[in-house]
Amino acid sequence: MDIQEIKANFEKYLHRQLDHKHPENLYKPIQYTLENGGKRIRPLLVLLSAQSFGTDILKALPAAAAIEIFHNFTLLHDDIMDAAPLRRGQPTVHKKWNENTAILSGDTMLVMAYKMLEAYDGSAYKQLNMLLNKTAIEVCEGQQMDMDFEKRSIVSIEDYIEMIRLKTAVLLGTALKFGGIIAQAATEHLTALGRFGEQLGLAFQIQDDYLDSFGHAETFGKRIGGDILDRKKTFLYLTTLKQATNADRETLIRLYHHNDVPDETLIHAVMALFTRYKADQIAQKAIQTYTSEALTALEATGLSANQKTFWQQFAAGLMRRTS
Ligand code: IPE
Ligand code: IPE
Ligand code: MG
Ligand code: MG
Ligand code: MG
Repeated sequence: MDIQEIKANFEKYLHRQLDHKHPENLYKPIQYTLENGGKRIRPLLVLLSAQSFGTDILKALPAAAAIEIFHNFTLLHDDIMDAAPLRRGQPTVHKKWNENTAILSGDTMLVMAYKMLEAYDGSAYKQLNMLLNKTAIEVCEGQQMDMDFEKRSIVSIEDYIEMIRLKTAVLLGTALKFGGIIAQAATEHLTALGRFGEQLGLAFQIQDDYLDSFGHAETFGKRIGGDILDRKKTFLYLTTLKQATNADRETLIRLYHHNDVPDETLIHAVMALFTRYKADQIAQKAIQTYTSEALTALEATGLSANQKTFWQQFAAGLMRRTS
């Protein structure tokens, strides 16, 4: 099956999970979130990985839904934590409804994600469940580090990479491993898949940081400059600090400390420093480096040359994304 067909199958399957649920005030926000134009990268990773290892994608649909529902649960809570007004070009759930709704609908999605795994038996069920447990905790650890870093003055690039590995990258690795587990791939191939996904995930989050400042709201669907307003220690911020003269470093630190600068003025001033020190270009380079690390890991997955070519193109497509 090609990607478009796989995606169509997934949409149909996911939609069926959301039909006729009550009470409305719990499920409306869940439908709103799950059917509001996400890129579906993670479920595609599950399904394409299962297919690469020779398994019918239909078998992997519940696992793909589990990962996508889990991901969307993290977004509901993340948007509260980041005070984000916009996602996928629409108001976030906590803005359109309220925080309590975003908390409880999010909690429900977390459990719905686990419930999807009930479609599997025996060893596959146990492996999927254990892996999701491990990953879910890691995502929370990464999210806490992300929040802690807002208030911490010294954050190294290594700290940052560990934070994004946990909050974002491990889930991409898990998505690929889910497909492999369902296809009963060998343990060493699962390990390589996990590394492939994790390295792709590091590139993916650096790209997300890049787009948060240098993207366009119409395509990116989130508020541009949101990370700056939250004082996030992003790849762009840390890179600029590292490259800047002492005077500019102090200016940037001061800008991040001030609470009385109007939003647009702050975004403009910080962006000017990002640009002066070519943080955008350095980020693009890092994205390429992590993507090529991913491609090295791909070599050990045991996939055929044709399949590797497919995944190389998939990775290249991710690097070029604008949304
Ligand atoms: C957003 O993920 C959260 C990050 C880890 C950067 P996506 O960019 O995959 O969001 P959707 O699901 O396509 O909207
Ligand atoms: C994504 O971090 C990590 C999780 C949602 C777990 P961000 O806070 O950068 O994600 P966006 O930019 O809001 O999608
Ligand atoms: Mg966020
Ligand atoms: Mg966040
Ligand atoms: Mg972001």
